[in-house]
Amino acid sequence: APSDPDLVARATAAKAKLGSKVFVLGHHYQRDEVIQFADVTGDSFKLAREAAARPDAEYIVFCGVHFMAESADILTTDSQRVILPDLAAGCSMADMAVLGQVEAAWDTLTELGIAGDTVPVTYMNSSADIKGFVGRNGGVVCTSSNAKRALDWAFEQGSKVLFLPDQHLGRNTAVLEMGLSLDDCVLYDPHKPGGGLTPEQLRDAKMILWRGHCSVHGRFTLESVKDVRERVPGVNVLVHPECRHEVVTASDHVGSTEYIIKTIEAAPAGSAWALGTELNLVRRLALAHPDKQIMFLDKAVCYCSTMNRIDLPHLVWALEELVAGRVVNQITVDADTAHHARVALDQMLALPG
Ligand code: 13P
Ligand code: SF4
Repeated sequence: APSDPDLVARATAAKAKLGSKVFVLGHHYQRDEVIQFADVTGDSFKLAREAAARPDAEYIVFCGVHFMAESADILTTDSQRVILPDLAAGCSMADMAVLGQVEAAWDTLTELGIAGDTVPVTYMNSSADIKGFVGRNGGVVCTSSNAKRALDWAFEQGSKVLFLPDQHLGRNTAVLEMGLSLDDCVLYDPHKPGGGLTPEQLRDAKMILWRGHCSVHGRFTLESVKDVRERVPGVNVLVHPECRHEVVTASDHVGSTEYIIKTIEAAPAGSAWALGTELNLVRRLALAHPDKQIMFLDKAVCYCSTMNRIDLPHLVWALEELVAGRVVNQITVDADTAHHARVALDQMLALPG
């Protein structure tokens, strides 16, 4: 639906009044009505770098989800304020790893005498607490665009990786990009004692995968891939690495949201693409490339409901409050957590390549 013209005018006016004081970041899964006001759009990695690269903006309005805003707060200066237009914009995957559970897992590894060989790696889609834990224990943050480089680095530091919280990104990267086998990976279930694994399984594993997943990408199945290949002969299947292993294996290309966009931009006219990622992005790509046949990989409609919570009314509210001199929905990370999380984030930003 087209955006409400009154709200568009108000957002435009508020942004004009704030000028260079405000910088609006927009993740690729945001609604069109919001993305039109983003100064920069990107995947999680690009947005983290953009936040770190804007020391002059007093306010960073983050149109994305909570863990992204936390990371922006960690990477910006003390005087900058990061605002999330709706505090209910969380991420169900990030919620699947809670600090107490991760500490309990680490205790188990310590008791078995293998924590010293284990490097914790966390996907960006995790709370600042988890990033802090990883930083304290010599690990690194990764995103969907640098997971291989992060794992290469981690396996130079130790013989084993504890990968949080997305089992699929961990497994897909290890098996499809690093040559590990499925048997090198075990699944640690935080709701079971000892993760539901025997000491031998934990000792033998190279990758200990946390049992977390994205509910949006988890909806794509092998059937979705088979179906689309039958319906559209010659179709290219391009999916996000948060999809299940069998989906990624059956696809032609895999990558972050930024990679998906670049791939579609470079695709020849007339080519057909089935995209296994969030629907706002797929719709936008289909509109922007009418010369290519771009479709959603599944028959069901799947938006990320928490990304969608950031809508134009919330953005207008946050901006107008700033014009009135009030900061609403500020995201802050306590200094100790931020310090350690920053170590793990800086380690990511320093990865070669
Ligand atoms: P990207 O880093 O690929 O943008 O992914 C972030 C995300 O939340 C995907 O679900
Ligand atoms: Fe989290 Fe999945 Fe939404 Fe990304 S798409 S923010 S991983 S729930």
